Amino acid sequence: MRAKHLDNITYIVGPAETLPVDDGSVSLLTAFVSAHWFDLPAFMHEVERVLQPRGCLVIYSYMYPFDIECGVFSEKLTQILWKVIEDLRPYESHKMNHVREDYTAMYEAIPFADKKRLESVRLIPLKLPELMGFIGSFAEYQALKAEDPLTAQALMEETEKRVKETLGDAAASAEMKIVLKIVLLLTCNNSQSS
Ligand SMILES: C[S@@+](CC[C@H](N)C(=O)[O-])C[C@H]1O[C@@H](n2cnc3c(N)ncnc32)[C@H](O)[C@@H]1O
Repeated sequence: MRAKHLDNITYIVGPAETLPVDDGSVSLLTAFVSAHWFDLPAFMHEVERVLQPRGCLVIYSYMYPFDIECGVFSEKLTQILWKVIEDLRPYESHKMNHVREDYTAMYEAIPFADKKRLESVRLIPLKLPELMGFIGSFAEYQALKAEDPLTAQALMEETEKRVKETLGDAAASAEMKIVLKIVLLLTCNNSQSS
């Protein structure tokens, strides 16, 4: 693990469905871009088990669709990105339905009455290599690559070519921004407090 060492932080690897911590011992539990992969009923059971009274749960992730902002190129670049996501759709896990429905079922599954669902937008600046890296990090792309590396490589090359053609001379230097819709679920264990 490459995480920075701090005296008051301990790192443990374990499944979200059987958290390796004691009952009622957690004051803050967070999951970023990951809760949709969990077995939801088992995870929520663990949330109830490990959170101390007034302990908080924060689940957040970015949602579809991703847009690209880049001046006059915005619409064309966004369409290129959406096309990749559509091409990768056969490799999309059913778990991504949570993301496609903006974590609404996830919100409903939270076992505490005291909860809030917030939305915001985050802009991530990037250039072409980072954009290609972002696409390459999609779970769907990784699934395609594992099954058919040549098709995966061709998809990347075709996508990069289309982006370069769109940006023309500006391709190497263009500053793009990925527009990410963030959904944040906040809740607090109020079951034993009054
Ligand atoms: C997209 S990554 C996000 C990682 C990290 N939160 C971040 O922002 O960089 C999703 C992570 O969820 C983890 N994950 C998926 N299912 C899990 C499960 N059932 N229990 C624990 N971790 C899980 C994966 O191993 C992966 O590290």
